[in-house]
Amino acid sequence: MKIKKAVIPAAGLGTRVLPITKSMPKEMLPIVDKPAIQYIVEEAVSSGIEDILIITGRGKELIENHFDKSPELENRLSRANKRDALREILGISNLSNIYFLRQKEALGLGHAVLCARSFVGNEPFAVLYADDVIFGKKPVCKQLMEVYEEFGLGVLGVNKVKEESIFKYSSLKVDLIRDNIYNCTDMIEKPGKGQVLSLYSVLGRCVLTSDIFDILKETRPGVGEEIQLTDAMKVLARDKGMIAVDFVGKRYDMGSKLGIMKASVEAALVHSEIGGNFRKYLEDLCKEL
Ligand code: UTP
Repeated sequence: MKIKKAVIPAAGLGTRVLPITKSMPKEMLPIVDKPAIQYIVEEAVSSGIEDILIITGRGKELIENHFDKSPELENRLSRANKRDALREILGISNLSNIYFLRQKEALGLGHAVLCARSFVGNEPFAVLYADDVIFGKKPVCKQLMEVYEEFGLGVLGVNKVKEESIFKYSSLKVDLIRDNIYNCTDMIEKPGKGQVLSLYSVLGRCVLTSDIFDILKETRPGVGEEIQLTDAMKVLARDKGMIAVDFVGKRYDMGSKLGIMKASVEAALVHSEIGGNFRKYLEDLCKEL
């Protein structure tokens, strides 16, 4: 079955990026001039996704506004003959069929995905975490969708993380199938010492089958008292098996202060409008460091 739907959970409280996230969703933090979540939506669209559900929560209205039409702004740009800006603004509101649903309480990523049940129905679907921006030639979501089409099992987007950091991520038991494709038969969220299965961790993208919903319904709160998607995917991996894809792309964690800065600096360096000047500024600054 072809994947046409994607779910973007964006209802987290963003406590690692306080104080800005007290009043501003981390998903709306800019990477130069574009909010993080726009990159995520664009990745889904360029992967061939037709319907997108963004899971929001209280205080996340800015996200809905960003993907809505903006008649006053459009009129102004049109009258001023600012065609490029107008095209860009209209493009955002025409990106895809975007739906919104509120997770009434931030009970965890697993719970956010469960909220998407009636939108998804019985189809396989992609999940793109709203705070993981990944730049690359081929959209990571597409890389995963192609593997789903071959194996017909849930697919996890993984990369190796540093040994000293694995306790902050999930850890997967994997066996090589070929190239960058692995069988995954077990996983654990935020492993303690002696619990690490491998340095491969799920980083922001997966394709799931609708079996996940019955499992999520039974999933009790885990690490951090949150309903963890990893705990549900573990059941799926043990019962049916899942596929892990060591994806190609550079990931920026927009849920962390350092990740936000890295994304901004690197995007600014290649930005069509300011790239040259920013490079010069950065070179001068580096001399002073
Ligand atoms: P994170 O764990 O990175 O988000 O979830 P968080 O809970 O906002 O982070 P901190 O630890 O408080 O800083 C990954 C993705 O899942 C969403 C987040 O918005 C993020 O995109 N999420 C998380 C939800 O939609 N609902 C939740 O209850 C939790």
